Amino acid sequence: MTFKDKVIYQIYPKSYKDSNGDGIGDLKGIKEKLPYLNDLGIDMIWLNPIYPSPQKDNGYDISDYTAIDPIFGTMEEFEQLIAKAKEYQIEVMLDMVLNHVSTEHEWFKKALAGDQYYQDFFILREEPTDWVSKFGGSAWSPFGDTGKYYLHLYDQTQADLNWRNQAVREELFKVIRFWMEKGVKGFRFDVINVIGKDEQLKNNKENDGKPEYTDKPITHTYLKELNQATFGTDSTIITVGEMSSTTIENCILYTEPSREELSMVFNFHHLKVDYENGNKWSTPPFDFSELKRLFHTWGEKMSDGNGWNALFFNNHDQPRALNRFVAIDQYRKQGAEMLATMIHLNRGTPYIYMGEEIGMVDPDYSSISDYIDVESLNAYKLLLAQGFTEKEAFRRIKAKSRDNSRTPMQWSDAEQAGFTTGKPWLKVAGKLEEINVEKERSSEDSILSYYKKLIRLRKTYPIVAQGDYHAYGADHPQVYGYLRQFEGQQLLVLTNFYDKDTRITIPEGFTEADILIDNYSDTVLHQNLELKPYQAIALLKN
Ligand code: GLC
Ligand code: CA
Repeated sequence: MTFKDKVIYQIYPKSYKDSNGDGIGDLKGIKEKLPYLNDLGIDMIWLNPIYPSPQKDNGYDISDYTAIDPIFGTMEEFEQLIAKAKEYQIEVMLDMVLNHVSTEHEWFKKALAGDQYYQDFFILREEPTDWVSKFGGSAWSPFGDTGKYYLHLYDQTQADLNWRNQAVREELFKVIRFWMEKGVKGFRFDVINVIGKDEQLKNNKENDGKPEYTDKPITHTYLKELNQATFGTDSTIITVGEMSSTTIENCILYTEPSREELSMVFNFHHLKVDYENGNKWSTPPFDFSELKRLFHTWGEKMSDGNGWNALFFNNHDQPRALNRFVAIDQYRKQGAEMLATMIHLNRGTPYIYMGEEIGMVDPDYSSISDYIDVESLNAYKLLLAQGFTEKEAFRRIKAKSRDNSRTPMQWSDAEQAGFTTGKPWLKVAGKLEEINVEKERSSEDSILSYYKKLIRLRKTYPIVAQGDYHAYGADHPQVYGYLRQFEGQQLLVLTNFYDKDTRITIPEGFTEADILIDNYSDTVLHQNLELKPYQAIALLKN
């Protein structure tokens, strides 16, 4: 049970804390903030990529797997960060991008220069397929002037690696062992369910090519091999796979302990409930019944199949959940606490994305030139090409851009939010007087204090970490609820997803239960329980 009672905190290193005034967050900055993280009570920090990179996709385009990008600091500083974190019993999780490398990586450069051995590291074809890159456009680009094409499921500068080549796998396993030796205790595997491409790369226009490379059986084989060759030797290591367009069946296979693949998985279905026909760059209101259906089916099936989910609403690829699901003008605090309750008492391992614990929201940028993310800029061009006006294209980018969550952490209401003394690489989101760590710390009744309570509950009550999962009130139009059970105890969690009061019937016996947490005070338990706007409450019955 090494990971069920843990809480993991995600840091976007570029935006956490800048220690030298160059406007870019760095390792020393993160080290400075360890006391804050310790006080919050988290167990592990996941850092987005910190390796040398041309930064075309903010570090997910790696040019050297076993070094630190100078913008973040030095290897020595990384070692100091690990050591200092361990003093606080905080471990470090690194982001491993094993599906692709930057076209600036020496493997790709040697391949381009004609080296056969390294050409086999990539997926080269005379005839490209009709697959679409996840960042827009074709997934194939010309491989120099060879007449061939190389596959890139993401940006042109992110060349997919050929996992069928054993030499590639061995090189990547060496990378994991390198970081294990530095004391790294967690690995987040980027888009790991797309590493196993089908043997015959076939056209598949209808689905942009996805079924030809997503969740292929060979991927399970590769993960077992990766496990055995690297982290499987250390049972204290936690692994999480990022799964693109995946299925529950596969996620059970990825995480069922006896299969020895991964500890847990991220899936994204619940973050597509505000997409129109699967199109991210649209802005319909979120579909609450679909959100519930997803949490209930994933919760129950993963529980029955003994799989394990990573639980989250925010990360560096998503706009802030508060902007998507909550009427923030009036209920930012209650909404933030409600979303946190739903995640933290659920079955799985909760992740907090920096700033979420103080209720940070999307920036209110006024121009497309404020955005930096490659996906957003590509999408803007595509939207214009599709005939949208500049105004409308901008509105859509503003709602969905990945930069929404990448803005600097708001430490105080000082200039640049106390993040840097220089000019931040991406503009601060704003609402500074209201949203900052200093302010949150000064009150017992703050979002931050509420997060601390939630984290403590997972560590105090085994039912939170280990209980199974059952849907509760599945048909209620406003409330998402679930029941956890463990060794004769029952935990009922109810969350009102709307800015209006509502009522829900609670099961017999729960009127006498203990209130473990509640984001309103003075709640009176009643069989027909009234819930206030965005109220969240957890009841424990022995
Ligand atoms: C993952 C990362 C994302 C990155 C992509 C390609 O989805 O979270 O930030 O752009 O993989 O590496
Ligand atoms: Ca810096």
